[in-house]
Amino acid sequence: MDKQNDQSRMDKIVSLAKRRGFIFQSSEIYGGLNGFWDYGPLGVSLKRNVKDAWWRDMVAGHDELATLAGAPSPYEMTGLDCTIIMHPQVWKCSGHFDLFHDWMIDCRESKRRYRYDHLHGRWASHRGKKVFVTTDQSGDEAVPDTVAKAQKFFGLRAKQVDEIEWGGGLESLQAVVAAGVASLADALGPDAGAPGSLTEPREFNLMFETRIGALAGDDDDRAFLRPETAQGIFVNFKNVLDTSRVSVPFGIAQVGKSFRNEITPRNFTFRSREFEQMEIEFFCKPADSAQWYRYWRDRRWKWYLDLGLTEGKLQLREHAQDELSHYSVGTADIEYAFPFLNPGEFGELEGIAHRGDFDLRSHMEGKLVRKDGELVVETGPDGKPRHRGSGKDLSYFDDVSRERYVPHVIEPSAGADRGTLAFLCDAYHEDEVPDADGKPRSRTVMKFHPRLAPVKAAILPLVKKDGMPEVAIDLYRALKPHMACQYDEKGAVGRRYARQDEAGTPWCLTIDGQTLTDKTVTLRDRDSLVQSRVPIAEVVDLLRDKLA
Ligand code: GAP
Repeated sequence: MDKQNDQSRMDKIVSLAKRRGFIFQSSEIYGGLNGFWDYGPLGVSLKRNVKDAWWRDMVAGHDELATLAGAPSPYEMTGLDCTIIMHPQVWKCSGHFDLFHDWMIDCRESKRRYRYDHLHGRWASHRGKKVFVTTDQSGDEAVPDTVAKAQKFFGLRAKQVDEIEWGGGLESLQAVVAAGVASLADALGPDAGAPGSLTEPREFNLMFETRIGALAGDDDDRAFLRPETAQGIFVNFKNVLDTSRVSVPFGIAQVGKSFRNEITPRNFTFRSREFEQMEIEFFCKPADSAQWYRYWRDRRWKWYLDLGLTEGKLQLREHAQDELSHYSVGTADIEYAFPFLNPGEFGELEGIAHRGDFDLRSHMEGKLVRKDGELVVETGPDGKPRHRGSGKDLSYFDDVSRERYVPHVIEPSAGADRGTLAFLCDAYHEDEVPDADGKPRSRTVMKFHPRLAPVKAAILPLVKKDGMPEVAIDLYRALKPHMACQYDEKGAVGRRYARQDEAGTPWCLTIDGQTLTDKTVTLRDRDSLVQSRVPIAEVVDLLRDKLA
């Protein structure tokens, strides 16, 4: 599929998401709030099903007695639910306070703000005048955007555009400035009329700040909304160990909101300022950690496939050595080819990181930095730790080997909203189905995996008379305790099927004249469109089996 088709596909997905109540812009009646999204009636069920599937597959349904395929040994899994606002020292020791920033750049003329690494540009010249034209657009929109800007800058008519001489393709502004090929004084800002309006880049910490207490005022009252759920797990490591009977190797899982004040939220819910994460911190013996890293990387990859994401649109990308965080021994990203990206580009769904003992040691000793290949406590000019740790012992005594060590951590960290967006994009299909007269009719169908589908079954009396609604309501009441289902008697049955196809309902059960004589219903399969007759008495068990 070419880019234009893919973009129109994305536009259709966004419009269906709004029209059918999957996702709305936050505070829409007040003009919306950039980077914030609300989930409507279908969306809330879809996202809840994603989170429930994750929790069930990783935590609640985990068999700690078995050695799962690829795992070095059996292991335990447990859960946690921590606060969003935590002690400010947490973020100082974790490194977020000093390091969790992006570079931003302002335009003095347009008063717009950009992420430095999102600006690209190219040299344009016309009749001796030369300028480095920048754009904040990505993908196929970027080049035409520079052409339009250069045309305006040089004061040309549309037919004169070919007179512009271009000095090569688009390059990152950050890279050309660093290489000395262009300076910010040469750059025409994306929304500026003249060059030289872009400021020097500045660091911008992505943590949202707040104040605790009514008398808050000085710096000590400053607190932050968590930018990840992970730290709540690390600081509770000892609590979990002391109060439950878990022993290493074990994992602590958490699902919850995280907040990042992204400079340029974009691509629907992909980069939001408020989002949910599904994170596991898995604690293991240092010597076994490489094997556990591989286990979690492969396990998490398989999870997305098992829930129906198209394999050809998924990519498992191991980070190169120079891409790894300063504490990481290995990291892999599970990525998806979202339709808003250029062909060949992928967006991150989940990162699986080998974090060594960085996190537990940071919260014991204080903020760590790597020096001569070793993690050491960072010190200030006075020689004291820059950010002091808790001083609590977070090491582990292994009863079996009689050793004491600081466990290593493997962290599979997934985004619930990004996952939901990938399932939404992947489910979107357009095909043709025969209408009541056998003529082909185009349909939009969301082919969600049944576990994720917001509604599992729709119960449809063919007509609103002859006792059909009564039979249908009985069936609805029999099914409802077992799965999300809908009763719908309004409109022609073809229209009702179409509504359920757009909602992604895998099964429709139609009560018709034959039902009244032989107590069977028609079971319509959303994807194959096969219609079969099933005894009413068997429907509940049949659908429960299909969902299991
Ligand atoms: N504890 C590690 C951590 O937070 P991350 O790669 O920064 O790692 C993990 O985030 C996942 O959280 C990402 O793979 C993505 O799915 C999700 N995520 C991160 N930033 C996001 C944002 N601004 N909007 C939506 N999801 C985001």
